[in-house]
Amino acid sequence: AVSPFKRGAAFSDTHRDTFELADIDWDDLGFAYVPTDYMYSMKCTKGGNFSKGELQRYGNIELNPSAGVLNYGQGLFEGLKAYRKEDGNLLLFRPEENAMRMIMGAERMCMPSPTIDQFVDAVKATVFANKRWVPPPGKGSLYIRPLLMGSGAVLGLAPAPEYTFLIYVSPVGNYFKEGVAPIHLIVEHELHRATPGGTGGVKTIGNYAAVLKAQSAAKARGFSDVLYLDCVHKKYLEEVSSCNIFVVKGNSISTPAIKGTILPGITRKSIIDVARSQGFQVEERLVTVDELLDADEVFCTGTAVVVSPVGSITYKGKRVSYGVEGFGAVSQQLYSVLTKLQMGLIEDKMNWTVEL
Ligand code: COI
Repeated sequence: AVSPFKRGAAFSDTHRDTFELADIDWDDLGFAYVPTDYMYSMKCTKGGNFSKGELQRYGNIELNPSAGVLNYGQGLFEGLKAYRKEDGNLLLFRPEENAMRMIMGAERMCMPSPTIDQFVDAVKATVFANKRWVPPPGKGSLYIRPLLMGSGAVLGLAPAPEYTFLIYVSPVGNYFKEGVAPIHLIVEHELHRATPGGTGGVKTIGNYAAVLKAQSAAKARGFSDVLYLDCVHKKYLEEVSSCNIFVVKGNSISTPAIKGTILPGITRKSIIDVARSQGFQVEERLVTVDELLDADEVFCTGTAVVVSPVGSITYKGKRVSYGVEGFGAVSQQLYSVLTKLQMGLIEDKMNWTVEL
């Protein structure tokens, strides 16, 4: 069959209207910033509602040096993806879940947030305006990054008087440089990502700046990333800098329960449902570092990461390898079902995808 995709030129296919692909090397996508055509912006004053959102050409934004987000970190972000199907149509994965998580996070960070409909409509408009940047099937996805920030000026510590909701997008491939090969994690037992009562359970920007020190040190030592432990007992698993963690033992899959210090990942939640539908027993509970060292298989989940097998864990100088070259059997099965769903290759019985 003739491929309906062509680089850098308008092309008419038999299924749909005319579409084109941006002129980049689609075989060389990692997880790195690529500027695209349009971004979406919508503002709101304190106590008001978001309105008059619009698409703008992608580019730098102007911020008052006194903006709440720059001075006091009053900001949240989200992440979701759009995939291109073989017929050229685009699929979003559970965008209302991101909208709801932003609403919850905004409440914690004293910010107003767009409604679910505003959020989802804005995501759709932004993806549609940038559709030539959605990779061809099998080459990656369009990563969608909604931001919510205190853009109004403050000097004393207080919620900002104005907020900006912004969405930009970037075509991406695999998150880790390992691709889908196993990643190597080191357990961090001195620095912590989150504390009870803190903001670990929301997607605030500060959570990510806070992990850079341990992450940089780990990378300098050849590890892919850092796995955090709870800050009270220092023995229960929390999450990796950019993703959630799962431990497999026999037919049972365990993942740390959401209790305010762990990001409630949408891929995490989806993998739990997929695993149950595949006959696995899934437990959300406290998982100790000892269990991790005794596991058959370990894997991470996240929007950016998707499902990533863990090849080894290092804890207090001891390294445990899971003896797999690539995916273990369980993570392979779950990855396969999830990504086929996301790409529209199998029937979406869960009603998770939204077609554009
Ligand atoms: C995502 O998976 O979408 C995230 O937000 C993690 C980020 C550090 C890339």
